[in-house]
Amino acid sequence: MTQAVPSITDPALLGDGGTLTGRKPLIEIRNVSAGYENKRAKTRLIALRDVTLEVYPGEFLAIVGPSGCGKTTLINMIAGFMKPLEGTITVRGEKVDGPSADRAMVFQDYAVLPWRTVYNNVKFALENRRPRPNKDELATRIAKVLAMVGLSGFEQSYPYELSGGMRQRVGIARALVSDPEILLMDEPFGAVDAMTREAMQAEFEKIIAETGQTVFFITHSIDEAVALADRVVVVSSRPGHIKEIVDIDLPRSRFAEGVKSNPRFGELREHIWGLLQAEALGAKIGGAGV
Ligand SMILES: Nc1ncnc2c1ncn2[C@@H]1O[C@H](COP(=O)(O)OP(=O)(O)O)[C@@H](O)[C@H]1O
Ligand SMILES: [Mg+2]
Repeated sequence: MTQAVPSITDPALLGDGGTLTGRKPLIEIRNVSAGYENKRAKTRLIALRDVTLEVYPGEFLAIVGPSGCGKTTLINMIAGFMKPLEGTITVRGEKVDGPSADRAMVFQDYAVLPWRTVYNNVKFALENRRPRPNKDELATRIAKVLAMVGLSGFEQSYPYELSGGMRQRVGIARALVSDPEILLMDEPFGAVDAMTREAMQAEFEKIIAETGQTVFFITHSIDEAVALADRVVVVSSRPGHIKEIVDIDLPRSRFAEGVKSNPRFGELREHIWGLLQAEALGAKIGGAGV
């Protein structure tokens, strides 16, 4: 297929994928392997093998790969929830040695506190902050992020009163409120229906354009990865390793321009689809599937 859209050849309109070289990486994952010990059976499952990856400041990086290939394992190590068996992960040159406020995680299953209002769920993220922001400062920040995610007016609602999409926005607001440098998102829109999901993707693209945060985003959806990311990392089946990193050379703002009808969107999606298809077949033939 030929490239039909002239804007894509204009370097000024390229996604960040085209302009990464020369910048210093924010996150550096060096030769990382990871796994889980089963102490009783005295076995070790290797989830990831020799992963090397750099994430640049302000980049939106999406990870796709078959179920069980180690995506969550990788994001948990960047978050500092678990350690690699081999290799190192650094953020701004410093080794990750546990969770930190500059790396906020958004989980798939909302992880909102059911007994707290929307306002107090978001406030939760700031409660252990030192120095603790004063009440007015808190109110201003919380109002700002709730407006960003479209939840103004729902401050006093409880999670059970909200739809799945709204609950997920609470999770996103909670991650945004502490203004972390890095947003770690593990299938954040995986539990919402298709229509809501697309609306949330569009809103999220706008939010990120405003905040300039670096996003490490795991998804099952190739469409979602191509629509949102500057680069898409395709991970092989377990033990996961990087199969290919695909630059997404689509102009922004993507949703405002109806990205999905851009022929280049289709090409990129086909390409990634092919990589994953080969992976699924290889896994079946090789017996290494999950
Ligand atoms: N806590 C755990 N204990 C043992 N094995 C685990 C644990 N978490 C994940 N695994 C295994 O590690 C592999 C990778 O899992 P995960 O990182 O969750 O994959 P993904 O997120 O890509 O679906 C899978 O085979 C999974 O069963
Ligand atoms: Mg996972």
